[in-house]
Amino acid sequence: MDQELYTIYDSHAHYDAEAFDEDRAWLLGQWLPLNGVKCVINMGTRLRTCASTVGLADLNPYVFAAVGIHPEEIDDSLPENWLDCLKVWLESSPKVVAIGEIGLDYHWEDCAPRQRQMEVFSAQLALAGRMGLPVCVHDRDAHADTLSLLRHYRPQGVLHCFSGSAEMAREVVELGMYIGLGGVVTFKNARKAVEVARAVPLDRLLLETDAPYMSPEPYRGKRNDSAKIPYTAEKIAEIRGISTKDVLNASNANIRRLFNLEGLLDQPSFNT
Ligand code: NI
Repeated sequence: MDQELYTIYDSHAHYDAEAFDEDRAWLLGQWLPLNGVKCVINMGTRLRTCASTVGLADLNPYVFAAVGIHPEEIDDSLPENWLDCLKVWLESSPKVVAIGEIGLDYHWEDCAPRQRQMEVFSAQLALAGRMGLPVCVHDRDAHADTLSLLRHYRPQGVLHCFSGSAEMAREVVELGMYIGLGGVVTFKNARKAVEVARAVPLDRLLLETDAPYMSPEPYRGKRNDSAKIPYTAEKIAEIRGISTKDVLNASNANIRRLFNLEGLLDQPSFNT
């Protein structure tokens, strides 16, 4: 990786995660801006982390928030009026720009039953439609049910950490959505992700970290952060035969468009 300073946008991160407890203020306040990070969309995963994600957006000019109930976080602690609570968070700040991270996870056996996950996901997709907000969707081993709900609700949004086939990516793009790609594409065994990185139209591709998870090579297994996005962009550029900067610029423009950031990023108070 050369030393050029890139302009970096990260469409999906979890800076409220415990992995950042030691040095969060330094990382967000100094390290990321010094490395060219200009925009981060930070995900909520349960009602408690929705509060911390909105807090991070309030504190850091270039951080924006998504709030939502993640499929791995659906349990008995979810109050009956959770959708009303979520709506309060969605309306709590102009820097809340999406509903996420929401979706279906059939990988872990201790997740809520599939029917319950579909209920919670559907309610949030419907809310996104009513509020005109994009969604950040998690789909792990649940391609068929995810696609059928997306076909039904037709949200604006992104399938993050996309793990489907190139064919599925085509269908998601036809539905009007974006494909999120992160560190996985740099892994040695990443045959499917490489095919997707080649097939997705450049105007539908979003770069992401999923920090602290999914670090790209050569940092695989270490804590991830948004400054590592160029490693993922470099790999996608190599697959497509274009420059790293072209990939970054395309993704940055897509992130601005999907999350309606034009007015927000241009406000001086959010840019200093
Ligand atoms: Ni995530």
